[in-house]
Amino acid sequence: MTLAEVSKSFGDNLVLDRIDLEIDRGSAVVVAGPSGSGKSTMLRCINGLEAIDEGTIRFDGRAVHSTGREIYGIRAEIGMVFQQFNLFPHMTVLENITLAPLEVEHASKDEGRRRALRLLERVGIPEKADDSPADLSGGQQQRVAIARALAVEPKLMLFDEPTSALDPEMIREVLDVMRDLAREGMTMIVVTHEMGFAREVCDRIVFIDEGRIVEQGTPDEFFNQTRSDRAKEFVDKIIHH
Ligand SMILES: Nc1ncnc2c1ncn2[C@@H]1O[C@H](COP(=O)(O)OP(=O)(O)O)[C@@H](O)[C@H]1O
Ligand SMILES: [Mg+2]
Repeated sequence: MTLAEVSKSFGDNLVLDRIDLEIDRGSAVVVAGPSGSGKSTMLRCINGLEAIDEGTIRFDGRAVHSTGREIYGIRAEIGMVFQQFNLFPHMTVLENITLAPLEVEHASKDEGRRRALRLLERVGIPEKADDSPADLSGGQQQRVAIARALAVEPKLMLFDEPTSALDPEMIREVLDVMRDLAREGMTMIVVTHEMGFAREVCDRIVFIDEGRIVEQGTPDEFFNQTRSDRAKEFVDKIIHH
């Protein structure tokens, strides 16, 4: 995944300012930065939900924002998990997970069910298949949302503050699923304030402020040799809050 000179404005609000970012296959990158710095917008541009004004975003060599038919294929290869789990309340857990593969790939119902159960095993809650999302805890719902995103076998997973809406005691179970995904080699971009996760799991931390990448480095570089004042301030606040 390569972003080159990507800029994006909402009206006269410049939200992404010439973003250059290279994400290697199989690597996990944490994106951190203050509220309003453009993190969500960047993720939405990466999966094509949001148009860009300038620059290019390429995934496996293909332009995400081209006008051709291939963009549908590219977008199907990118899964996204949001802060609010966005599960369909009137469907069971299993139906939530099978919906996309059934529609996208015309998989059979049996095959869809088998695949969904495998995914629920992977996120640790196979026994919840026939429950309604409303009967699950927040942490369980978010794990279902991850399973749903994985159902179309994406090559890249985007996470936008996946644990920010969770009670503290449920954060761990979601981060553990994400850690396992990273260890299995999934390419991941994770917007999070969970610096323990960043330190332990990710290959690189990218710090964004006011739509610009201010600095990036390995967790060790980022936490122990923070260069910019803005990142220092941010790290201090997060670690000592
Ligand atoms: N759909 C939108 N329309 C107008 N302004 C937006 C929209 N989405 C985000 N913004 C603005 O873009 C800036 C960056 O927002 P966002 O990407 O959500 O930041 P972050 O995720 O880092 O908190 C903010 O000033 C926000 O108000
Ligand atoms: Mg955001």
